[in-house]
Amino acid sequence: MSESAGAFTNRGQEETTCLPVCLEDLMEDGKIPAHVAIIMDGNGRWARKRGLPRKMGHVEGCKVVERTVEDAARLGIRYLTVYAFSTENWKRSEDEVEALMQLFRYYAKRLLKIANENNVRVKMIGERSRFAPDIIKAINSLEDTTAGNTGLTFVIAVNYGSRDELRRGVTRMLRDCEEGHITPDQVTEETIASYLDTAKIPDPDLLIRTSGEERLSNFMLWQLAYSELYFCDVLWPDFTKEELVKAIGEYNRRERRFGDAG
Ligand code: IPE
Ligand code: IPE
Ligand code: MG
Repeated sequence: MSESAGAFTNRGQEETTCLPVCLEDLMEDGKIPAHVAIIMDGNGRWARKRGLPRKMGHVEGCKVVERTVEDAARLGIRYLTVYAFSTENWKRSEDEVEALMQLFRYYAKRLLKIANENNVRVKMIGERSRFAPDIIKAINSLEDTTAGNTGLTFVIAVNYGSRDELRRGVTRMLRDCEEGHITPDQVTEETIASYLDTAKIPDPDLLIRTSGEERLSNFMLWQLAYSELYFCDVLWPDFTKEELVKAIGEYNRRERRFGDAG
């Protein structure tokens, strides 16, 4: 294993396995995708396999989010977006939703420390007004306190649904038309993008979905138009830095054509 791969060990333990792709090559050739988005799926199945309640899968999943932020920052990824709670996830049992809210509370505080230690800027996308006032306050303070950090931008999608994001954006755009700030014939693709929660964030280069499911589940439908999609069977609580590097290795084997003849 190369020395540089060792330099990415950040969990207080020695690497024992060889990475599937040489990190040194990826770093040297500038092949690290600028924006990696992840649909973190499989927490419930991870817990079920162990005879544990679903919420324990979310607890483990949160630990993996924390490690992945640090790994992404060290790899030189500029933007990491994670899908943490969808507009459809409110359909789950009261007990599971409440457990997830408690985790948001706990991690909002914890993330503040991790973000500042790693020069990470945190941004939330999704519709936050549905959350309890203390969670909204924690989200706002996380964004405000880390706004000046210049390293990785960590985007967390909470109460996020792509169709809801488009609906909210279109409503605001129509209002701006009514008030005379823009006219309908001035609307370009860039205008639409600027009304989305992801305004000023570049589109993901690579989308990873764990747990073997191969669908978007209402995630970034506009932004993923030309992203490379990578699906792996590993359940989110089992996701490791090696899995991330494997996905980046696969990304580097793809030829992105953007509609050109290639
Ligand atoms: C993803 O894991 C986390 C959230 C959607 C909050 P799941 O909870 O969907 O796990 P599975 O798909 O049931 O295994
Ligand atoms: C997508 O996973 C949402 C998140 C990862 C937060 P789901 O588990 O909710 O998606 P479906 O229901 O399998 O499509
Ligand atoms: Mg799921």
